Amino acid sequence: MQANKRQLPRWKSIKPLLGWTFPRFTNEDKALNRCVTIGDIRHLSRKRVPKAVFDYVDGGANEEVSMRRTRSAYSRVEFRPLVLRDVNTVDLTTTILGEKSSLPIIFAPTGYTRMMHYTGEVAVATVAAKHNMVYSLSTMGTFSPEELADFVPDVRRWFQLYMWSDRARSLEMIQRADSAGFSALILTVDTAVPGQHNRDVRNGLTIPPKIGFRTFLNMSTKVKWWFNILTTPPLEFATLRRDGLSPSEAAARVFDASVTFEDIAWLKSIWKKPIIVKGVQSVEDAVKLAKLGVDAIVISNHGGRQLDAGTVPLEILPEIVKAVKGRMQIYIDGGIMSGADVLAAIGFGADAVLIGRAYLYGAMAAGAAGVEKVLSILTKEIESTLQLNGVTSIEGFDSNFVRLREHG
Ligand SMILES: Cc1cc2nc3c(=O)[nH]c(=O)nc-3n(C[C@H](O)[C@H](O)[C@H](O)COP(=O)(O)O)c2cc1C
Repeated sequence: MQANKRQLPRWKSIKPLLGWTFPRFTNEDKALNRCVTIGDIRHLSRKRVPKAVFDYVDGGANEEVSMRRTRSAYSRVEFRPLVLRDVNTVDLTTTILGEKSSLPIIFAPTGYTRMMHYTGEVAVATVAAKHNMVYSLSTMGTFSPEELADFVPDVRRWFQLYMWSDRARSLEMIQRADSAGFSALILTVDTAVPGQHNRDVRNGLTIPPKIGFRTFLNMSTKVKWWFNILTTPPLEFATLRRDGLSPSEAAARVFDASVTFEDIAWLKSIWKKPIIVKGVQSVEDAVKLAKLGVDAIVISNHGGRQLDAGTVPLEILPEIVKAVKGRMQIYIDGGIMSGADVLAAIGFGADAVLIGRAYLYGAMAAGAAGVEKVLSILTKEIESTLQLNGVTSIEGFDSNFVRLREHG
């Protein structure tokens, strides 16, 4: 008998191979369902929002050197796996400031989120609540602390503060966050002055976005985004609403170039819950903050949106860990776009990571459903990377499993 004897194709053998079905009309977001990585979601989001909005999120400061290096540091990570370990069940939970979180991920504060998707901060916080994760609300948010607490009362929430030149106004904001049930303050300290975003300048981005001629042409391809923006309440910095400032006036007041370590001592005297300092980029400052008794730091260059060609968070993480581990929690952010990136940061000693753009791409692509998709991708990737390293918990993943190669 001939081993590869030919025969006529049979329907019975072809049917299971068919990868398509007849189209059905549903509300399902097929393009979103097809996304496999955060990169795919970024790509989809680019198609769904105006260019200026996409660039506002996607871009960085000046020549974007910080942004690129911050991201590309993760391509130098090498895992050192162990094999022949039982990794059937894995535990992805971690402890963030004394409380359990289902993942070692915190939603970073991002201003003006309703520009990315009309459902804004509330949509993101709703997803955070569902997954028992921390959501950070920016001072520059499009929902105020009170509104966020009203709409998503059960989310574990932190308030991100920009220290105002008028300290009395900072005090008032802190008291509002306290009454609205925010359980920690994040003080952002890498913004003595606003970073220069060349893409925004070139795109003529205004806040709120204006309908110029170019924008008008662009509108025809982003109808859904414009429809949502024009049929919902106007975009505004909701926390600063009562000051009656224009967005540019608000930005000018919110960034105070005279903030020093003494202000942290002042903050500690008026805010009795945990304080996290975000934007630390040197061992020297981390040590000073540990001495001042803050509860956590975020090693961050603001996603490469402030000082260009500055410190790369992943590269300085091991030095900071060596100097202050155990005295306060250490978080890191910038360029985290996969579960492997999350684990790399954990391996080098971070207690948790913050994600910014990753969830904003999800929000721009599809609001809460997009953010959900981002989380499901990250969860699967963290789980499989952990298993392939031969580890069953976030706690068990340490510096023995990672090293930084010289080149990617
Ligand atoms: C569009 C956008 C707005 C941001 N707004 C704020 C903000 O209001 N306050 C703040 O502390 N950080 C802000 N950040 C920085 C993030 O909190 C975070 O540090 C950064 O996004 C991390 O890098 P990644 O986006 O690569 O994850 C913003 C980032 C983006 C992308």
